[in-house]
Amino acid sequence: MTTTRAATATGTGPRRADGPRKAAGTAPYAYEYPVADLAYIAPVQATVARGRVLEVDASDAEAVEGVLTVLWHANAPRLEPDPDLSGLQRAAELAVLQSGEVAYRGQVVAAVVAETFEAAHQAAAQVTVRYEQFPHDVDLSDQRSDAVAPEEDHRQGDTAGAEPADVVVEHTYTTAMQHNNPMEPHSTVAHFDGAALTLYESTQGVHEVRRTVAAIAGLDPRSVHVIAPYVGGGFGSKGPLHAPTALATLAAMALPGRSVKLALTRRQMFALVGYRSPTLQRVRLTADAQGRLSGIDVVATVQSSALADFVEQAALPSKSMYAAPNRRMGHRAVHLDAPVPTWMRAPGECPGMFGPEVAMDELAWSCGLDPIELRLRNEPDRDPHTHKPFSSRNLAACLHEGARRFGWDGRAPVSAARTENGWRVGLGVAASTYPVVPPPSGSRARIRYEGEGVYVVSLGAADIGTGAWTALTQVAADALGAPLERVRVRLGDTTLPEASLAGGSTGLASWGSTVHAAAEAFRARHGQAPEPGAEAEADLPDNPDGDDFAMFAYGAQFAEVRVHEATGEVRVPRLLGVFAAGRIVNSRTARSQFLGGMTMGLSMALHEESVVDGRFGHVVNADFAEYHIAANADVEDIQAHWIDEEDPHVNPLGAKGIGEIGIVGTAAAVANAAYHATGVRVRSLPVRLDDFVGA
Ligand code: MOS
Repeated sequence: MTTTRAATATGTGPRRADGPRKAAGTAPYAYEYPVADLAYIAPVQATVARGRVLEVDASDAEAVEGVLTVLWHANAPRLEPDPDLSGLQRAAELAVLQSGEVAYRGQVVAAVVAETFEAAHQAAAQVTVRYEQFPHDVDLSDQRSDAVAPEEDHRQGDTAGAEPADVVVEHTYTTAMQHNNPMEPHSTVAHFDGAALTLYESTQGVHEVRRTVAAIAGLDPRSVHVIAPYVGGGFGSKGPLHAPTALATLAAMALPGRSVKLALTRRQMFALVGYRSPTLQRVRLTADAQGRLSGIDVVATVQSSALADFVEQAALPSKSMYAAPNRRMGHRAVHLDAPVPTWMRAPGECPGMFGPEVAMDELAWSCGLDPIELRLRNEPDRDPHTHKPFSSRNLAACLHEGARRFGWDGRAPVSAARTENGWRVGLGVAASTYPVVPPPSGSRARIRYEGEGVYVVSLGAADIGTGAWTALTQVAADALGAPLERVRVRLGDTTLPEASLAGGSTGLASWGSTVHAAAEAFRARHGQAPEPGAEAEADLPDNPDGDDFAMFAYGAQFAEVRVHEATGEVRVPRLLGVFAAGRIVNSRTARSQFLGGMTMGLSMALHEESVVDGRFGHVVNADFAEYHIAANADVEDIQAHWIDEEDPHVNPLGAKGIGEIGIVGTAAAVANAAYHATGVRVRSLPVRLDDFVGA
């Protein structure tokens, strides 16, 4: 039969394909899978920040009715000592219960597996752990002599003070430690039958989980089956694996034939699945009196872990953002007795655009220039870092369009900012960017014709709430010339063709290009009138332009901030972002990604801060009562727009990736607006009422 060609689905906003299933509660999340012979895992966490477990007394725990086993390093199954892992993974973080060494407070030192959740948790509380305790060190500062540069600084010209400068802005800007808290906490259901392992896992990539778990457990990847069709948010912390997945694997291996399950509590989320490192950014901008930058110098001090290295790339975005002949960008990492940091939405760019974008605002005021005009004067005509042409660069268009929509023109000087009913009112702007990360190779898609006009599109991608179910349906429908409702997508299972991780905002570009290639292969092989059962597969195609262009998405973030004159309370009544992110495939889910990112940026600006008690070495505000996340009442008028951007170089879809750029620059826009409102320059996140009271 022939299909009728549908109107182009790309660029429209069909409702979420997974929406009804989620609304009706029939879309299963990892912890919800009905499995037989279930047992529950309760981790026991270290109460010292550095030391060694000498002994675990499990006798009281084992006496609790329903306890099946208490695991610790002396009796836990052995994992591979030197597993062959991808560059994302940290072997030491996954070597759970393999030695008695304690590298951070909260590390898993034992675990109870029991017939019921209650028995597991009661028994875990009755496990006695004896430690040899060593002094620990969790204090991050940029004055430490043991900070290391993980790679050579990137340098061009001279930033040692010889660059011409009528105006100098030089300050330290800081961002707080933050913890990823997706609605669905990290969870695993694991079953080992003595040979094959099945994991229902809340993850950003089932194939990455399969590869990693097979490597640490010493299994053939073909005997590991990972299932994750629905995931309640990831934000990066479900990209690389963390200790809980390794623990569930161990528990399953210790109890072959049983299914074991583990969902972290909110409190455990603050120790076991990584975090965004705090950053201390030394930023030095030099410019002539007209605001033309002569030098950009950004050195970011960040926190890594004594257990394994992870360096937040906070100086990275400054490499390509603005033109300036003299440049230095570098990182300094301090290895502390703390958990290993990890990805959190726009790692690198998100914290790394705070300091420089506030510094640009300071420079604008120093030069007597509008901050939009300052940015326009420093637009590079090529990537200042690689000297390649940009595949497309529409920061200027975003700034202009945002200014028009936001009502920017005519903004008063700081001293004349409005006061309304005791609130000082100000407007601020900041730029945003996120790279078009080259999609990881290895993705493959299959298309099968079922008859009756129905096509099934299969690849193992994970939709972590972004809209991949829907957008991939659109891409496939357009590429096949089939109506949307005749395309069925299958995702999130290692029995499907391999798909790269949902990370680096590469999902749609990577999987969509792969689906596009599979559709072309299908049509080339089977034509417009395929027989039922006809199939074709294709791999992610190489991008012929991949090496020839610098590829970035851009945005302009605008904020209105009100600061109460008496109390210092900070409100953000308006946020508006305009983005240039290539072709937008689904307007509904894309807007949701931009708004979600901006909301998370607002949260970073005003609330999110993990507070470490240096005496004990752990995060003390480890719950939602004290770790504040922006809620509905914090979000007032928030708008996301985009400009029509054609970029033929990024991939066949022309889509740049949208999951992360929305969070970048938001916090700087808020801090810049707070300055406009009050004349108080806040260089440290989160912005607090204390910054304004008495100032
Ligand atoms: Mo995202 S932080 O690249 O998973």
